[in-house]
Amino acid sequence: MKNVVLVGFMGTGKTTVGAALSEALGMTQIDLDEEIVRREGKSIPALFAEQGEPYFRDAESKYLADLLEHGPCILTTGGGVVLRPQNVEVMVQKGLVVALSASEEELIKRLENDTGRPLLAGGVAQRVRTLLAERAGAYDFAPIQIDTTGKSLTAIVEEIKGLL
Ligand code: S3P
Repeated sequence: MKNVVLVGFMGTGKTTVGAALSEALGMTQIDLDEEIVRREGKSIPALFAEQGEPYFRDAESKYLADLLEHGPCILTTGGGVVLRPQNVEVMVQKGLVVALSASEEELIKRLENDTGRPLLAGGVAQRVRTLLAERAGAYDFAPIQIDTTGKSLTAIVEEIKGLL
């Protein structure tokens, strides 16, 4: 079995769907953000504030490649992992990539009380709109596309299972 890699904008449910999928398929789930926090010994807000975003992106690329090399697993990623072409290449090469999406309105609703995502600081709704525009098309490379808007977790997992 190949790695299954979940990508998508913040708030699309990658970690939650990954956990349910891991149970349904009997595969180990690894969360890239959690791995970064564990291996770097710092929270994501602390990494952004103290080391800066480029440092975080370097760590993200390094651990992504490493985890996919040692699979198979269900790897859930951070929304910005698609920003580097080298990451997209390694994900496509080493895994089956599933992109989750949701409507702008739904994402703002899901993220409005968030405090753990540095890129949303200063006003969630505006930041979500700006980043969605900046990242338009960035998740389109994934062969499996799942719109999660208004769907239950069970329905999403069944849909993915049927497409793997
Ligand atoms: C980011 C998404 C976050 C996390 C970091 C940066 C992004 O992960 O990696 O805050 O650039 O979209 P989630 O997508 O799990 O929120």
